[in-house]
Amino acid sequence: MTNLHGKRIVLGITGGIAAYKSAAIASRLVQSGAMVDVVLTESAQKFITPLTFQSLTHRRVFTDIFDIPPAENIPHIELSHQIDLLLIAPATANTIAKMAHGQADNLLTAIALATDKPILIAPAMETDMWEHPATRRNIATLTEWGVAQVGPAAGRLASGRMGRGRMAEPDEIVDAARQVLAKNGDMVGMRVVVTAGGTREPIDPVRYITNRSGGKMGHALAEVARDRGAQVTLVTTAGLPAPSGVSVVRVNTAAEMADAVLTAIPESDALVMAAAVADYRPAEIAPQKIKKGDGGLTLSLVRTPDILQLVAKYRAETGFPRKVVGFAAETTDVRRNAQEKLARKRLDWIAANDVSRTDAGFGVETNQVTLFGADGSVVELPLMSKTAVAAEIWNRVAGK
Ligand code: C5P
Repeated sequence: MTNLHGKRIVLGITGGIAAYKSAAIASRLVQSGAMVDVVLTESAQKFITPLTFQSLTHRRVFTDIFDIPPAENIPHIELSHQIDLLLIAPATANTIAKMAHGQADNLLTAIALATDKPILIAPAMETDMWEHPATRRNIATLTEWGVAQVGPAAGRLASGRMGRGRMAEPDEIVDAARQVLAKNGDMVGMRVVVTAGGTREPIDPVRYITNRSGGKMGHALAEVARDRGAQVTLVTTAGLPAPSGVSVVRVNTAAEMADAVLTAIPESDALVMAAAVADYRPAEIAPQKIKKGDGGLTLSLVRTPDILQLVAKYRAETGFPRKVVGFAAETTDVRRNAQEKLARKRLDWIAANDVSRTDAGFGVETNQVTLFGADGSVVELPLMSKTAVAAEIWNRVAGK
């Protein structure tokens, strides 16, 4: 579940060929649980029909500022005040120009002028139009007023020419919408640090010891905190794409992770250690690839730093991070082991999961965790998406 869930969004579509991609944007927003009211300008309807959007949103599509059914409020006034976001994609040079001059000659520009809610535009036009001083000035005006912008990207344009002006891809636009909504989130002003993935402890230049953690839980935690407006540092070993807007530190070993965490936690509000940190590493890293012989091979292992213990020490001296959450991946005696770790590592919360289950824990999209609090509380969560688990954890940390 993202911060799009339950949000009311006006998706404004203006007359550019990129309008065909707006169907994908509408679909993604609806699938994320947003209530989407689509407004098409007259020229947008030359490229794509209201029926397309009515079918995707299951809602009436607005096209005409004067088409007001009896006993209904005036759409541009109603829509401009009751929404969480006005997203205009594609935004043509013409619509951008009208907005920058306060014109309101169609329903969409009227909403843009009347709304006091965040506006995000995804410009799309030929490079010459994008680079024209008039557009430059109009964009600067909108930016000064706080209008957010995503794209345009460089690449092949509808004319066949190459250059900047392509509308950003639907996924990127939806992601940017989440970031704009985050500015009103309940974690605005918080600085949080999240770790993710299994550490890799080298044996020689080509081999390492690791574990089955793929980093999905940690990345979900980072993304949800970002969506709620927190400033996030994600220390990760995972090859997963990093959520945009999050500051990412890529590491491999437990020692590197310890350094990155200790660098990130001063003045922080919370640390959530979702990473599966190796407890042991090879005592020595062979400088060359180890050749196989006829006999066996014995590796000598030594302990890695316990990052949470280092954090506990730092916290005792400075008071930061204000809250610390650990994870306990167990295969037996989940409750007892988790509660023992909660006390020993001096955590505020520990999220315990039974990784012997096939539908929870490593590699899968879902997780089943029980949260144990230092205050004695026990919250047994049902099997749910890692994003939903992340939301539950942040609810506890943000005191919700
Ligand atoms: O002791 P155990 O590894 O089961 O504890 C799990 C918790 O401790 C996780 O939150 C993990 O990220 C953290 N941990 C750590 N440093 C280690 C090992 C685990 O911070 N060396």
